Amino acid sequence: MPAAKRSRSKKTRIMIFDTTLRDAEQCPGAAMTGEEKLQVARQLARLGVDVIEAGFPYSSPGEFESVQRIASEVRGPTICGLSLCRLEGIDRTAEALQAGKKVRLHAFLSTSPQHREGILRKSRQEVVEMAVSSVERARSQIDEVEFSPMDATRTEFDFLCEVVEGAIDAGASIINIPDTLGYSVPSEFGELIRRLRESVPNIDRAAISVHCHDDLGLATANSLAGVLNGATQVECTINGLGERAGNASLEEIVVILDTRRELKRRFSTGINMKEIYRSSRLVRDVTGIPVQPNKAIVGENAFAHSSGVHVDGVIKLLERGSSFEIVRPQKIGREKSEIVLTSRSGRKAVRHRLAELGYELSQSELEKTYQRFLALADQRKEVTDGELESLVADELRLTQEIYALDYLHVVSGGTTIPTATVRLRRNSEEFQSVASGVGSVDSVYKAINDVIKLPHKLVDYTVSSVTGGTDALGEVTVRISDRAGTVHTGRGSSMDIIEASAKAYMQALNKAVFRAEGGPTRRKTKKKAKRAKRRT
Ligand code: KIV
Ligand code: ZN
Repeated sequence: MPAAKRSRSKKTRIMIFDTTLRDAEQCPGAAMTGEEKLQVARQLARLGVDVIEAGFPYSSPGEFESVQRIASEVRGPTICGLSLCRLEGIDRTAEALQAGKKVRLHAFLSTSPQHREGILRKSRQEVVEMAVSSVERARSQIDEVEFSPMDATRTEFDFLCEVVEGAIDAGASIINIPDTLGYSVPSEFGELIRRLRESVPNIDRAAISVHCHDDLGLATANSLAGVLNGATQVECTINGLGERAGNASLEEIVVILDTRRELKRRFSTGINMKEIYRSSRLVRDVTGIPVQPNKAIVGENAFAHSSGVHVDGVIKLLERGSSFEIVRPQKIGREKSEIVLTSRSGRKAVRHRLAELGYELSQSELEKTYQRFLALADQRKEVTDGELESLVADELRLTQEIYALDYLHVVSGGTTIPTATVRLRRNSEEFQSVASGVGSVDSVYKAINDVIKLPHKLVDYTVSSVTGGTDALGEVTVRISDRAGTVHTGRGSSMDIIEASAKAYMQALNKAVFRAEGGPTRRKTKKKAKRAKRRT
């Protein structure tokens, strides 16, 4: 056998059991409609998970229907239904799964003293009997049965071994070890899996699975410890959603196994990594639960850089065809690393972004643009591409005066309703409009808007005087935000504050119109120009 094949076959295949539709769906605010569950299940199939835990059929008619529908319509992964160790629940779950080709019944029962005594009020003996009879009942209807001793990490070890042994003898081929309350730590959890493998006499007739909750932020680490100690199935969810603080996150587990060289050599999954980001987005949209921005792998900022030192590293390594990050964003279906421009980004970042947008600026143009960028960045969290383009357009005088203000007349004061008349010109065409408003500036802006019908929001309007005295020159700064959220700034000065306001508004609107109609003409970078030349 060739060496490459030999080494591939040595890898342990880790089964990915996704419980987004069950454990995650149980968490507050994550409820999905049957249609949405089907949509998520289809995406999980594209993602390549091995098992989809589709729901808890005995809990409601809606759950029953949705598990039944997923089992009959989704092909690829095994479809699993969860049931308590109660015979009527087992039967109902088996019924929901009947329509599926590859199905699994997952039976669970609390085994810890806290749950046995405080919730179930059953003795150890009774708990073993319930587990055994439920697994047997399940096996009489479904070939593949998984058993979970709930709260396993707080269960006496000898009793845990006894229940697990009984469940395997009754026909369970997967034993799942849940850290139900997320109480374990990696060394302890790994040790538990290792000891179970050593102590349960019939354990080699079952696969060991792990199911870790994130109450102490250790779900992924504990799951990994389980894998390193012989577990071959990981139960996890998209975006780490799940009861309370959530479950181990699918994307983290899968990417860890693929990223660390020593793990990649030993383990593999069937996940199509390019579908990870899309799956995360879908679950976010369907549940309405946002992904925290700094969430590993799928968070908004997971591949975003803004500080000057990091951006410098990103740009340098990118130029060498290398990558700053340990995971390439494209690998999980994201577009690329992002450089977010903030006041800490530095000149290199601004130049890099401008080059990406197609601008080649001289040193002095760049310096002036950078100074204006800094002034803007100091007032805002981040500067968008549109705003950067607007600054360049100003600096390179690329913005044209598309509409010119030819005439302005305002009547106001006393009991008069403030009314403005404006005449605007676009090339040789003239437009006139009259409007009234709650004040003089309002009436002018309304009259202008009647002519330039561009949807936008007035974000900011400030007046300051440039010189002192009653004949002071007033300066107005206006910021408007267009439909895409791009902010355009306009400035106008005059001894008449109404006129200064009109000028500032016209300038901001001209920029927005300019962008809406195609944006500033880009100066091609040398590379782009060369490429264009080659093509012609
Ligand atoms: O957390 C848990 O113990 C569970 C079981 C049903 C496996 O979700
Ligand atoms: Zn759980």
